[in-house]
Amino acid sequence: MASQILLYGLLALFFTAALASDPSPLQDFCVADTNSQVLLNGLACKDPKMVDANDFSSSGLHIAGNTSNPAGSMVTPMTAAQIPGLNSLGISLVRIDYAPGGINPPHTHPRATEILTVLEGSLEVGFVTSNPQNRLITKVLQKGDVFVFPIGLIHYQRNFGNGNAIAIAALSSQNPGVIIVANTVFGSKPHIPSDVLVKAFQVDNNVINYIKSKF
Ligand SMILES: *[C@@H]1O[C@H](CO)[C@@H](O)[C@H](O)[C@H]1NC(C)=O
Repeated sequence: MASQILLYGLLALFFTAALASDPSPLQDFCVADTNSQVLLNGLACKDPKMVDANDFSSSGLHIAGNTSNPAGSMVTPMTAAQIPGLNSLGISLVRIDYAPGGINPPHTHPRATEILTVLEGSLEVGFVTSNPQNRLITKVLQKGDVFVFPIGLIHYQRNFGNGNAIAIAALSSQNPGVIIVANTVFGSKPHIPSDVLVKAFQVDNNVINYIKSKF
């Protein structure tokens, strides 16, 4: 009886873990064949005999992203789209640059937990728990500090210092994806009908149309 309970516990743990990140690889690697027309979960594999070190490499992450945009931040990704060797491995990396006062606006990664570290400057970071609590968990980070954004939860960062800030974040997916709240809700193509947003946000139509005009 006790062993059965233990078994079910382990199975539950296993399935939770298995569903919370990219599938485990069934071979050493599956370097993405970027020319393949085959559509599958991930990207088709290149012939392993044709793989070389460049498939597992990229460069340029020392270069600051251009933060001259309304948010004042730029994300430079290193996902399977940039490094074919990441295909099927369930991990990726980004560099994030922040101008003074810059933000990385509220967003979520549908496929990844994120662990971020500050390389330069200071960041205020936060994520919000799901309904019904909707609790904001927030902290000010200094250089060298690390913070975790759990998979699926909406989070943001704000440059909390006077100079530029730089962060590096690792994500538990080869292709974490990003859903930016403002862009998806107010900037979808075609638009979500205004009367839906009027009721959802409890404001009048002019407010909705004004916000839509910004995206
Ligand atoms: C940065 O982006 C802005 C706005 O798109 C552009 O005008 C500017 O030339 C860019 N700067 C560099 C160094 O690429």
